[in-house]
Amino acid sequence: MRVPSSIERVLLDEETIAGRVRELAAQISADYDDADALMLVGVLKGAFIFMADLSRRLTIVHHVDFIALSSYSRGATSTGAVRLIMDTRASVTGRHVLIVEDIVDTGYTLDYLLRNFRAREPASLRACALLSKSARRQVDVPVDYVGFEIPDVWVVGYGLDYADRFRTLPYIAALKREVYAR
Ligand code: IMP
Repeated sequence: MRVPSSIERVLLDEETIAGRVRELAAQISADYDDADALMLVGVLKGAFIFMADLSRRLTIVHHVDFIALSSYSRGATSTGAVRLIMDTRASVTGRHVLIVEDIVDTGYTLDYLLRNFRAREPASLRACALLSKSARRQVDVPVDYVGFEIPDVWVVGYGLDYADRFRTLPYIAALKREVYAR
């Protein structure tokens, strides 16, 4: 495996990620077994690979939809200001909605999304994040399904980027601190 020189170390390899995604899919499939069709809402761009893998492992009827956000950041530091720049195609009102995020860091983004979606009166609303950096949380936001807790490092790969780079690495790795120093 050729690892780019900006990478400090691989935190989660492909097998580890695949195993956890299978577990999450089994859990979600069991939890929504009695519900009418589930609507997965993936947050672009970061969640696109996780969303593709998770959705293909679900054994229940579901639809996929996507949203895109612009978050005003300074380098690797979120400012907490979030705006929806692309909405779902289908209405979420009356549907069982599961927001699929790549990572919850300060929590501002997910907090914004949950408020925004709750206002549209879905039948139910939950959130699933592949990664969580609990140590950096600024808002106490509920995350119903979490793939992995990770330390306070900037991670890339499996959909996650730094300045739009490293997104398609098949593993999740920590960037060298000097690359993203904040
Ligand atoms: P929050 O609003 O601070 O929770 O940040 C959420 C968003 O910041 C995520 O959806 C990511 O797009 C981005 N983000 C936070 N930490 C990382 C990271 O370590 N790598 C890549 N993106 C990150």
